Amino acid sequence: MERTAGVLTASDAGARGERADTSGDWLAQRLATAYTVVARAVVPDAVDAIEAVLREWVDRGIRLIVITGGTGLGPRDVTPEAVRRVITREVPGLAEAMRAKTWDRTPQAMLSRQVAGAVGATLILALPGSPRAVQECLEVVWPVLPHALDLLAGHTRHGP
Ligand code: MTE
Repeated sequence: MERTAGVLTASDAGARGERADTSGDWLAQRLATAYTVVARAVVPDAVDAIEAVLREWVDRGIRLIVITGGTGLGPRDVTPEAVRRVITREVPGLAEAMRAKTWDRTPQAMLSRQVAGAVGATLILALPGSPRAVQECLEVVWPVLPHALDLLAGHTRHGP
């Protein structure tokens, strides 16, 4: 199955065109080294808007969806709530690893509500919004993503 990916930025200022999508740009470039990035969007920090894009991309069969932004504690930070409406199985270890591997460098990582989960063969990751956080967090989970996608596609045999 083709390794397709989508990058979704949740940002009120970004959706109004008031802020460059630095984190989304970095994500798209990094993902393009191993995946075919077939979708990109910037939406406001609104549960319905985020959920609608996720459902559309899941219906398109995109295998890996990475979101940046909206994972903090601000009143408009609702990305985890939107992701939880769409996923059917949470993969808590991915978010746990991101926090555990980065909080010695960045104590605020303890306040980040990253979430990861699957629906069908699609894996959805919600990362924090800052460019530094996106890079730190994606690099933690990067090595296990191919195997996660294989498992979700039903390839459950392990090599020798
Ligand atoms: N997590 C990691 N690993 N590294 C970081 O630099 N920055 C924190 C937090 N989590 C950071 C991090 C800061 S300062 C903020 S404001 C939030 O991520 C931003 O998350 P949000 O934009 O998704 O709300």
